[in-house]
Amino acid sequence: SKLHVEFPAAAMYTDGSRTADWQAAAKRAHDQLHGRSGPGQEWLGWLDPPSPDDEETRRIAEAAEEIRARADALLVIGIGGSYAGARAAIELLTPPFSSQLPREQRKGPDVYFLGQNLSASYINSVLSILADKDVEINVVSKSGTTTEPALALRIAREWMIKKYGRQEAATRIIATTDRTQGALRRFAESEGWRMLAVPADVGGRYSVLTAAGLLPMSVAGLKIGEMLLGAQEASVEYAMPDLDANGCYRYAVWRNELYRQGKQIELLAAYEPAFCAFAEWWKQLFGESEGKDGKGIFPAAAQFSTDLHSLGQYIQDGPRHMFETVLWVELTGSELLVPFIEEDPDGLNYLTGKSVCEVNEQAYRGTIEAHQDGKVPNLLLTLAQLDERHVGHLFYFFEKACALSGYLLGVNPFDQPGVEAYKGKMFKLLGKPGWTV
Ligand code: PA5
Repeated sequence: SKLHVEFPAAAMYTDGSRTADWQAAAKRAHDQLHGRSGPGQEWLGWLDPPSPDDEETRRIAEAAEEIRARADALLVIGIGGSYAGARAAIELLTPPFSSQLPREQRKGPDVYFLGQNLSASYINSVLSILADKDVEINVVSKSGTTTEPALALRIAREWMIKKYGRQEAATRIIATTDRTQGALRRFAESEGWRMLAVPADVGGRYSVLTAAGLLPMSVAGLKIGEMLLGAQEASVEYAMPDLDANGCYRYAVWRNELYRQGKQIELLAAYEPAFCAFAEWWKQLFGESEGKDGKGIFPAAAQFSTDLHSLGQYIQDGPRHMFETVLWVELTGSELLVPFIEEDPDGLNYLTGKSVCEVNEQAYRGTIEAHQDGKVPNLLLTLAQLDERHVGHLFYFFEKACALSGYLLGVNPFDQPGVEAYKGKMFKLLGKPGWTV
């Protein structure tokens, strides 16, 4: 497999007598999912990932090619599931600070994000950076009524009209939204913008492998066909209910077992900083899917070894209410050796000749040992390497694990009633017509 799933201290935390119960529960949840009979059954479009040869995938790749040919910056407007996946993949598969490289050394136009907050200074900064660039906009909103991206779109549209004139601005905006309905579809139709569709049966946080995620990724130069192949392979690998054969389901079961033992926080810890935005995607997926009806594991994230110098103290010695899911990449594709200094002024000559990867690996192994000694269970996910195929696999792995885990927990992993509460209060404060509570 592209992803190895293990729980080194399983014997300490999983009571053997419960194995059969968990297998039965996983089978029930699996049947609900694949029989499309569980809560949120109308949101299972992501279960069968699209093929690289689908008509829609071709349209996405074509639209991306046009944008790549015309623009040196893509402004993606969206929030939540209409934002997090694209950013996760792009940051995972693009070198850090690559916007500082000369154009010919970059994979594609720079991708900027707007609409994921309500900060005027953030919006102003992004627009001022874009002032001298050739810009295209991809607005992503399934409903079209989400305040943050709708507001950003209003501002960005006016900015584009000033920059390019009304007619040309309209040719530089592409909307990704529901195939048949919604405010953004109507807006796009009236403005004459091109459109791509998010399937009706795929909810926001499960939409990374639809146009919502794939268009920005493809513009950034990622191989979306490979990404979809990786997801398809994962969908085959994780299609059977047998826990021994299904690492995705084992992960879902282990985290539920740990939750029942009082481990209320799951810390996703990666040793490559490129996983920072991916961890945000993961937090959104699990947080919005599972945190409801008074239940749910709180999804948190850390970057190691960076956070071993901050959160590390809490993890090692704080309350014993968390477990870690450690993401390790076997082959990073980058090599760097520790140089020798004659006088050994910093005492690092014992590392001479070793690679930085080896040092990172021993940090990873040592940390697992230390945290497990400190009674923090560690689940390990080892990704063979970091490329589109493996990332596609990883996206699917977590989507399916999240759906199964939600069913094991007894919640609907596809709705998000709780996110309405803040909106109601905000709308009332802003004086939106009809909002009085
Ligand atoms: O997962 C979800 O459904 C949400 O996070 C949505 O993606 C988010 O609220 C954005 O919604 P929309 O695409 O309708 O603007």
